[in-house]
Amino acid sequence: MSRETLVRMARDVLSHGHAKTIAKADDFYKLPASVYFDKTRNQQEKDLIFKRLPIVLGPSAEIANAGDFKTMEIVGTPIILTRTADGSVKGHLNTCAHRGALISSEKSGNAKRFTCPYHGWTYSNEGKLIGVASSHDFGQIDKNCFNLISFPVYERAGVIWGILNPDSKIDFDVFISDYDKMIANFGFENWSLFAQRTISGPNWKAGYDGYLDIYHVPILHKNTFGPKVSNRPLYYSWGPHQRVCTVSLSKDKVRAVLGYMSDLVDKPEDDWDMQTLLYGVWTVFPHASIASFLGGDRDLEGSDEGVPGHRGVMLSVLYPGDDVNEHFTTQYYLMETPPTDPEGIANATAQFDLLEEIVGQEDYNMGRSQVKSLMGGGLKELTFGLNEKGNQNFYKWVDKVLEAKDDEELNAFFKSLGKEKGIPAENKKSAAA
Ligand code: FES
Ligand SMILES: [Fe+2]
Repeated sequence: MSRETLVRMARDVLSHGHAKTIAKADDFYKLPASVYFDKTRNQQEKDLIFKRLPIVLGPSAEIANAGDFKTMEIVGTPIILTRTADGSVKGHLNTCAHRGALISSEKSGNAKRFTCPYHGWTYSNEGKLIGVASSHDFGQIDKNCFNLISFPVYERAGVIWGILNPDSKIDFDVFISDYDKMIANFGFENWSLFAQRTISGPNWKAGYDGYLDIYHVPILHKNTFGPKVSNRPLYYSWGPHQRVCTVSLSKDKVRAVLGYMSDLVDKPEDDWDMQTLLYGVWTVFPHASIASFLGGDRDLEGSDEGVPGHRGVMLSVLYPGDDVNEHFTTQYYLMETPPTDPEGIANATAQFDLLEEIVGQEDYNMGRSQVKSLMGGGLKELTFGLNEKGNQNFYKWVDKVLEAKDDEELNAFFKSLGKEKGIPAENKKSAAA
């Protein structure tokens, strides 16, 4: 079912490649410059986006085994994610029901229970209060009324989402709009986490722009991706989630991350492999992206390119920081089969380091200087062109989310965006088929 959708997208990318066309936005889009630095607006985004929508909390592989847990602080809210004995993931506020201390200050680990370091109340990883220190002195309480505060968690396609509002009425299926079924084609449930790191960057939207924007790639990344790579994007969307491919028939070394379908040219469609069909950047609204890389090699090319089992993706998840001018990106490098030999490990490590340089130095330094320049107040509005449709969509949809009065309105909005947008419903088989 979803392979057929991937094939239709690949046909579309190839036909644009042969015709040398892209699918343009209808018009220019103007964005007030203050969106990047206004503190009131930034707080609204934290409250109405990050504390209200389903957000990505990490890959399943990060807490793969029963008892695994990790803690995070997201827009000021401390949380703890646990994998319980039945294999399911639970999300709780990392806040003791007694007087509010963090029940765990460890970043990650494996534990069935957590004992609060303040007065010693103990909770199961299901979030239940199971022990009150000196309970005869504390007084009689109904333990059921003092469990950790839990919030909705969804694990799909090897990725974990959560909604920080415990009373949310958001319909996750409407929000995800079958995009999880597309991502499921990677098979992340069986992949491993090779490495992860967290880096800082500019205002979260200035950071996120780069994941949707292909226009900048041969210019800003001329020293890493190279000056000859394509800057011509195609966007396909499910609800608010956009996949980005690039129109090019070249076999450039960046074809996996940019989503060229050149590896399929002259191949019968029945032989189109899932690895290539999934190339490109799969952004997850409002703050994450999954980008494919070949093989794990220091120059992005992959010494064993095209060999199933050696591919990797970088899952990047962005969270606003305390300051409007800062955000944090956690980069997860997931591999289908992580290398075990020293050379393979060194190559994959070098590739991951290169990605940190590209994003952390090139993209995020540009974002920092861009926002600083805008804060000068001279330019009141930015202009997104017809070839920046993905960014146009993002800002329009962020505004809709901020305007939505309640979760019902959000559900209706996400539903209105439809599925498989931008993919021709029927298109001809490729000439080679
Ligand atoms: S605050 Fe946790 S036991 Fe008192
Ligand atoms: Fe970039």
